[in-house]
Amino acid sequence: MAATRALNLAVIGGDGTGPEVVAEGLKVLAAVAKKEGFDYKLQPFDVSGDRYLAAGGDPSKPSIPVISEEEIAQLRRYDALYLGAVGHPKIAPGILEKGLLLRLRFELDQYINLRPVRLYPGVPTPLADRKPEDIDFIVVRENTEGIYTGMGGFQYKGTPQEVSTQINCTTRFGAERCIRYAFEFARSRAKATGGAKGKRLTLVHKTNVLTFAGDTWFRAFNDVAKEYADVQTDYNHVDACCMWFVKNPDYYDVVVTDNIFGDIITDLAAVIQGGLGVAAGGNINPAGVSMFEPMGGSAPKYTGQNVINPIAAIAALAMLLRETGKNQGVETWAKAGRRIEQAILATTPKMKSQNAGKMGHSTTHVGDLVVAAL
Ligand code: IPM
Ligand code: MN
Repeated sequence: MAATRALNLAVIGGDGTGPEVVAEGLKVLAAVAKKEGFDYKLQPFDVSGDRYLAAGGDPSKPSIPVISEEEIAQLRRYDALYLGAVGHPKIAPGILEKGLLLRLRFELDQYINLRPVRLYPGVPTPLADRKPEDIDFIVVRENTEGIYTGMGGFQYKGTPQEVSTQINCTTRFGAERCIRYAFEFARSRAKATGGAKGKRLTLVHKTNVLTFAGDTWFRAFNDVAKEYADVQTDYNHVDACCMWFVKNPDYYDVVVTDNIFGDIITDLAAVIQGGLGVAAGGNINPAGVSMFEPMGGSAPKYTGQNVINPIAAIAALAMLLRETGKNQGVETWAKAGRRIEQAILATTPKMKSQNAGKMGHSTTHVGDLVVAAL
């Protein structure tokens, strides 16, 4: 591991409550950097739905870039990106998603979407009689292929004969690099937990119907598995996986899946871990620039009220430090990330609820509690 160096962070606060929760994450970063003894530099980027509209963007169809080529080129120079939320009630679905989030995933080749599913102590789960030790797994979702590529189109649009196709673009290369990442992740999880976790990797797909794309995934999975005799493997169809996440969440350890299935099962998983107020995600290019975000969205109706839960944003920052430290070989950052994670575990039991306005604390006070717990 390299000696520590200054962490160069690009920050996109974004829309709605994004900037508020990001501010709490940055408060925690300031405190942990001091304690662990590393420097950092922040560069805010003004990218949002608000900016799109202010620049004359059409709210009903994409008309101007949400983020410019030049801004993307600049973002490539940072160690990591920290994103609050981009989403605007006045802007039609798809414009900001495609124009920013998916664009960055593709351009920066963030081919992994990492979604830890952990029930923090004191957080209510809708599953009866489940405790933190029962819900602690991680979903590794492919993030640049499948039906997200935008391949396909319309024929005879607007007529009774309208045809639309949306192609599930699956490559052996894309599936295999994601699967390999998941096996490596399982292995490092085993190392980090002294063998308590990281023992099993479950592939989720739909091989009984998607006999082409599913077959590519299934064969790639079994081929790569031969190199990881220390990791047990299992396979679930995606529909069955949805039942078992609810019925037997304790069975899951590391899960790997394609883009759309990963999108769907991680929202189910977010609910069992206590909701979007605590769920964080990482868009990862292990050899490039990764982006970390809370999953809760811009929550426009709570904007500026100091009531939104910042735990997900703080957990996203912890993941940013851990994964960036791991991928760039800077142990101080990884250690700081683990330290924040511990502080979160000490904070959630002091909160009445994880829902906006019902936490028993303001947004800024939850940030203070995490800092105090460091
Ligand atoms: C996610 C989100 C995105 C996705 C949307 C906003 C495009 O739901 O990160 O899970 O579908 O990937
Ligand atoms: Mn999603």
